[in-house]
Parts: sequence; C-alpha cells; structure tokens
Amino acid sequence: MDLSARLEELQQVERFPPPDGFREQAVVRDAGVYEEAARDRHAWWERQAERLDWFERWDTVLDDSNPPFFRWFTGGRLNVSHNCVDRHVEAGRGDKVAFHWHGEEGEERDVTYADLHRDVQRFANALKALGVERGDVVGIFLPMIPEVVVAMLACTRIGAVHNVVFGGFSATSCAERMEVSAAKVLICPDGSRRKGKTAPVKQQVDAVAGDIGESLERIVVVRNVGDDTPMQEGRDVWWHEAVDAADPECPPEPLDAEAPMFILYSSGSTAKPKGILHTTGGYLTQVAWTHQWVFDLKPDEDVYWCSADVGWVTGHSYIVYGPLANGVTSVMYEGAPDYPDKDVWWALCERYGVTIFYTAPTAIRACIKWGEEYPARHDLSKLRLLGSVGEPINPKAWLWYHEVIGGGRCPIVDTWWQTETGAIMVSPLPGLTETKPGSCTIPLPGIEAKILDESTGEEKDDGQGLLVLTQPWPAMLRTLYGDDERFVETYFKRFGPETYLVGDAARKDGDGYLWVIGRIDDVINVSGHRLSTAEVESAIVSHPNVAEAAVVGRHDEDTGQAIVAFVTLREDGDDMERAIRDHVAERIGKLARPKRIIWSDDLPKTRSGKIMRRLLRDIAEGRELGDVTTLRDPDVMEQLKSKVAERQSEE
Ligand code: PRX
Repeated sequence: MDLSARLEELQQVERFPPPDGFREQAVVRDAGVYEEAARDRHAWWERQAERLDWFERWDTVLDDSNPPFFRWFTGGRLNVSHNCVDRHVEAGRGDKVAFHWHGEEGEERDVTYADLHRDVQRFANALKALGVERGDVVGIFLPMIPEVVVAMLACTRIGAVHNVVFGGFSATSCAERMEVSAAKVLICPDGSRRKGKTAPVKQQVDAVAGDIGESLERIVVVRNVGDDTPMQEGRDVWWHEAVDAADPECPPEPLDAEAPMFILYSSGSTAKPKGILHTTGGYLTQVAWTHQWVFDLKPDEDVYWCSADVGWVTGHSYIVYGPLANGVTSVMYEGAPDYPDKDVWWALCERYGVTIFYTAPTAIRACIKWGEEYPARHDLSKLRLLGSVGEPINPKAWLWYHEVIGGGRCPIVDTWWQTETGAIMVSPLPGLTETKPGSCTIPLPGIEAKILDESTGEEKDDGQGLLVLTQPWPAMLRTLYGDDERFVETYFKRFGPETYLVGDAARKDGDGYLWVIGRIDDVINVSGHRLSTAEVESAIVSHPNVAEAAVVGRHDEDTGQAIVAFVTLREDGDDMERAIRDHVAERIGKLARPKRIIWSDDLPKTRSGKIMRRLLRDIAEGRELGDVTTLRDPDVMEQLKSKVAERQSEE
C-alpha cells in the first residue's frame, strides 16, 4: 500500500495501544502507579528522589508552609555533577560513551563519562580561579559542542548558577540576559558554524559587552572555529589555557537541595524576559525519573537522541541532566537537520543505532515537506520509541512520524511541559497508555492537572478551559530570578497560591485525555520557540523609522505559528521590510523576524488608546472580524483588511 493510502487508513484509528511486545518489556507495566502516587504523594516523590545519590538525606519531603514558595527535600545535600558523572565512573562505567558528538562537517568525538569527569573537574577549578564562587551567575552562550555540557556541569559542581542563552539569539539579547542576572563570567566561542558559514560570535559579544554592566568580570572563549579573535587583556581568557592551568581534582560541593541551580530566560507577556529559576534536588529528581519512565529508558541498551538545542529547557533537561543522571549513551549533533543534506538526522540514527528519538512537531512537518525519500535512505530499524515536545502535534504529523520514522512499531510520547515546570508533566507512559494522535494524554503519576472554566474558574471534567496544576511538583520553578512579585503575579494571582496557572488553553475529553490548544497570553510559539509579542514589538519600534508596531501570531502550516507585524512608519526608507527584519534579528535573533509585515497608517485602538490585538489576530488569520464598536476609528479596520488582501495577491 502506498504511504498516502496507509496514512488515510490510519486517520480512522482513534487509539494506539502500546505495540505488541512493547508492554511486556517496558520499564513501567503496572497501571497501579497512578493510584499509588495519588495515595501518598510524599512517599511517591521520596522514592523518586532515592534514584539519586545524596550526601545527606532530606528531613522534609515538601515544605509547603509558604505557598507558592514550595521547597523540596529540605535538609538534603547532593551535587548534580556527582550524580551525572562521578557515580557512573565510580561504578566502573567510566569508559561508557556519554555523547557521540557529531559536528556539522561530519567530525566525530566520542565523549565518555571518564572524559566528562576529567574535563568537568578541570573547568570547575578554572572557574574558581576566575573568581567564581557558590551562588555566582555564569553565562553560557555556546553552540552544540561538548564544551557546553562541560561548562554546565562544572557550574553545578561548585554551586555556581548557570544562565544558558540559546546560540541562535543575538549578542544583544545575550548581553541583556547577562545584565539582568548580574553574570560574573560569560563563556562564548570564538565563532559558531551554521550550514557551512561561520559567525564571529566573540566579536559580536565584544560589541555589546560594554552594556552588560559592572558585574561581568571575565569572558572565557572556546576555540571552536579557529578564527583570529581579539582578546582583551585582563578580561578575556581562552578556555583551553584556563583548563590547562587548572588543578585536575575538584571534589563536588555538597549543596543544599534548594540551592539555585540555573536560570533560564523565557518569554512572557511583557517585553522583559522572565528569569526562570530552578533549584538542585527537586529538579534533578523529576528530570531523572521522567527521562527513564517516559522514554522507557534502559540505560545499558539504549542510544538516545534529543534533537533540541541545549539553549532551551528541553536541552537542559533531556540532553544534559536527565540522560547523564541515568548514565545512558546519547547522540549530540551540532548542525541543522538539512545540512549537508536533508537526510542527515536519519543518517545519524543509522550510524549510532539510535533507539529513542525526541524532537519537535515543527521538525516533523519540515521532514514531511521534504519527502519520505530522505528517511527511506537509511536503516531506522533500531528505533523503538519516538517523542514529541514544544507545541501541539497535529494528527497528520503524528501519523507520518509513527509510520515513516517509527515504521508503525514505535510508541509516540507527546510530552507536555514548560520551562517553568522543569520536567515533563503530561505524557503517555509508553508501556501503559493508549495514545490518541494530537493528545498529550494524561498527567504523570504524582502530577495533577485540571481544566478550569475561563469565566467561572470551576473545574471542568469534559470540555475546554484554562490548564492549571494543582499540586506542587519537585522540578517546579522556585521564582523568577530577583522578582518574587512577578512570580506570584504571573502564575498564582488568578487562582491563589496553590493553583499554578499554566498559560495554556486545553480541552479534556471524556476519557480524561488532555488536548493542548495553545497559549492564552501574548506568547507566540514559532517552531517550538517561545517568543513574546511585546518583545518583538519593542525590537521593531526601536528602529528609528518606525512610529508604532503591533505583533500577533498567525497559524502556519510549517512553523505552527508565524509572526505578523503591523507597522506604522515615521519615515519611509530603503527596503524597509528587510531593514526591519534585520533589525529584529540583531536585537533578538533570527528566530524572531516577522514572517510578514503589513504597513498601516494607523492601528485599531480603543478610545483609551489600547491596541486591539484581538482584531489584528482576526485580520492576520483571515477571520470574520469580531466586535469593532469599541474602536476609536472603525475605518482603520477596513484599510487594514485591504492592505492584507493586497499583500496576499502579491504573494
Ligand atoms: O504552550 C505549551 C507548549 O510550549 C509551552 C512551553 O514552552 P517552553 O517553556 O519554551 O517549553 C517548551 C519545551 C518544554 C507550553 O506552555 N508546549 C510544550 N509542549 C507541548 C506544548 N503544547 C502542546 N503539546 C506539547 N507536547
């Protein structure tokens, strides 16, 4: 049967039970785990924490005396790098490969647990020599090279707090994040590679380093592309020189379970990114546990690959900490999915014998567009489980993933979570849960999610509303760095300190399965990357020719959502469309460039001057316009509609 006929046939299938033979071999086979966890949550999480090595056991599982500031495993002491590296080496598994690293031009480096043990200790000592102390913030702005993992682990070894910035962000964005977190040291490469080209990252950082403020004392530069790089005497130091000069031994610091571990900036409703703060014991507990259960991980047999970038939370939890805590062998790939050719991912799956593959729906949609001939070039028969994350997966993409990549035999785990949750919260357990394409199914054992009615706040057993989490969980964010007030305001103001407002709308069906619809705030999800409309707007209006801008998200076949900007110019200029797109790339990063710009003489505003985004969204999506009676000047909408129609006829 040809593929399209097969996919059409599969569309009639509502539920996919765990495949024959999978359940019998699965890590979790007993459906009683849900009940067990609900019966005694503390005992449940305590058992998960026992997966880790603790220097000192906790006194209290959960301190909930001051909600929403929950504290987990208080009194306990542990070290993340010890759990991710030393204990595997001590157990005689030092020679095991932690990462098969694969470079863009086909270079290969196998990094073993013993290699990590050596490199992490040395770099931890190098950081100390640069004056980094417990609690100091260290910025990491690196591409997907092994040094990024070493840098993160080295921070955790000495109790420094890492703040990783995705390498696709601009140096300006990086500088902003360094400034607001008062980073003491920044680690960046001389340059980075993308599809055969190199970007002079260090020089770009130099150009904005002056804006970072006084906190930044040192910049550590990784020689990555080998280009000439100016080094500022007294401030800049080469990674390899710092490491060579460092002592080889650095014992792991026994850190408090609640010691801050990392900050990761993420977009919210305002232009100012939120510094999401995670702490040590709870985070590692839930990440290690979910990585094993959700991916049915058998550390001695599996080869695991998560195609995300370490600069996002998926990379933190499921490239670095989960896989290393569980001692598995992973693939780490530097490059793009279509370079040197569109089959590179599948070539790597074949080459390293990948058994578990975790990616985002947007990547799957790109693969569908490229065609099934690319995966067909390779032997993917070792794959036994597939994962999806970052945005709702449309059933068409789910079925294609299942059939073409998974050969019809691999369960798909659609994992719902967020930077704030730190670890997976809602997902099938692949040996137990019947999946339905497009649904992330049910909360994991120990997790409680509800749907509340948008207007009354009442719980709904069936139907659509606001997704909330009603029990604290170990990997939850502890606060927004330096801004407790915004933390409470953003997540707990609406329903009180025991009910975490997720920011997603979702539907629950009659089986209790969850279907995430999308964000309820002004956050756009482009290719699984979270961006705030306010952030993009503020980048656009900072262009000297722009008077005003409003940004909305629009549904997009390929990227899930796409950015549409309505812009009023102060003064026309040469090729303004390109100028604005370049300007946004420089301020935030290429990923935030608007896909479409619509020039408008005015924007729809209420009488009090507030831009009515709802109407702009209607226009961008080509929907019937909602109520326009509250507009100051209803004619504006007619003008905008004709501009959009004009743009469409040009395309
Ligand atoms: O809207 C949800 C969507 O991504 C948001 C979180 O984005 P971020 O913090 O960048 O973390 C992404 C990776 C964990 C959520 O609020 N989202 C994430 N996973 C899914 C999803 N939407 C639907 N289904 C998912 N599996």
